Amino acid sequence: MITQKERKESRREQVRKVGQSGNYWYAMELSKNLKKGKSIEAKFWKSSIALFRGEDGKVRALENRCAHRQIRLTSGVVNGNNLICQYHGWTYDGCGKCIQISHEIGTGKKDKLPNIMINYYPVQEKYGFIWVFPGDPEMADKVPLPSIPQLDQKKPWKFIPIDITIDAHFSMILENVCDFNHAFLHRDYRPFTDPHLRDYYRQEDTITMEYDTDLSQSQVVKVAGEKQGKEFDNMTLWYQYPYQASNIADKYLHWLFMVPIDEKTTRCFFVFLFGALEIPLIRVQIPQSVRWPLLKLINKFYVIPLLNQDLWALNEEQVAHEKHPDEHHYEFNPIVSEFQKMSLEKWDQYLQSEVDREVRQKDEKKKFIFHGCGVTKADLDMHRAKVNENGKVLA
Ligand code: FES
Ligand SMILES: [Fe+2]
Repeated sequence: MITQKERKESRREQVRKVGQSGNYWYAMELSKNLKKGKSIEAKFWKSSIALFRGEDGKVRALENRCAHRQIRLTSGVVNGNNLICQYHGWTYDGCGKCIQISHEIGTGKKDKLPNIMINYYPVQEKYGFIWVFPGDPEMADKVPLPSIPQLDQKKPWKFIPIDITIDAHFSMILENVCDFNHAFLHRDYRPFTDPHLRDYYRQEDTITMEYDTDLSQSQVVKVAGEKQGKEFDNMTLWYQYPYQASNIADKYLHWLFMVPIDEKTTRCFFVFLFGALEIPLIRVQIPQSVRWPLLKLINKFYVIPLLNQDLWALNEEQVAHEKHPDEHHYEFNPIVSEFQKMSLEKWDQYLQSEVDREVRQKDEKKKFIFHGCGVTKADLDMHRAKVNENGKVLA
């Protein structure tokens, strides 16, 4: 049952408590961080996932919990394409099935292996990331990864991903990267000057925003030798749930892949994409050999200091939110409420799909009932009550 207090919560208070839908692909780790024969822990909305790379080079993802004593499987060892728990040596395959137990089972019987399973999650690798589908595996094939043409072409644009964990709820981060009203914070770097939100609209799961803003003041645009002009007086951003991106003149783009860890922690992978860069004044294209160190320099002296300003503000906002959760907010940017509506809607959809999945698993008389990563029984109970009280079934 929803309490009276919860019914009175503002949309903002509600959104700061929800996770992101598991029925999407999430970049959970950089491919280069997981070598053959190794495992690594990833987290998705208060849940732990064991990622491991087998000897065939493929990554697999399991619930990070041995079915025996519930200890983390990432403390175990990879053997072939399986993961062995460090304690009593139970072995799990990539589908979460326990396929071997190294000790006697009961009294002297080693031949009868009991039917034991833990949850697994579909995995794929692309753009240098390990993507995990933490929700209902049966939906994974129908859901695409984000499409990034600049990385799909024959000569993909080089980029250096930035992997940072921010002490803030994912919805705050989203509001930060898309709300240019905070130009004051970046007055030294001037990534956007005099912003004006010209238009915004939602089409299915994507909210697009068009800003008029003078981008020519940005230090990176100046360093790149760009001239002030038509191409640099506007910027398009979009939130293509659950991914966020922006585009300036098809030449400067960024993508942000967020992984919600809990109410106050979000892992973020930023991908900044720069098209052909030229040497200022002589307008000669910078050769590929110099591009890599140049990207490192841009990150070091521009992107990371700029992001650090946002990190500071987000951490302040998170602490302030915990201190004053129900204080009224004055909000002048309409996209903020659009984001919040969509985040709540998507979380409800995720819970509804998990309620349906539970019914389906019971109908099929499955021995093991699995829930999507990050979903608890309490979440499902609360969702069922909410649907009943409202008298409507969410889509
Ligand atoms: S706790 Fe994993 S095998 Fe015993
Ligand atoms: Fe910012």
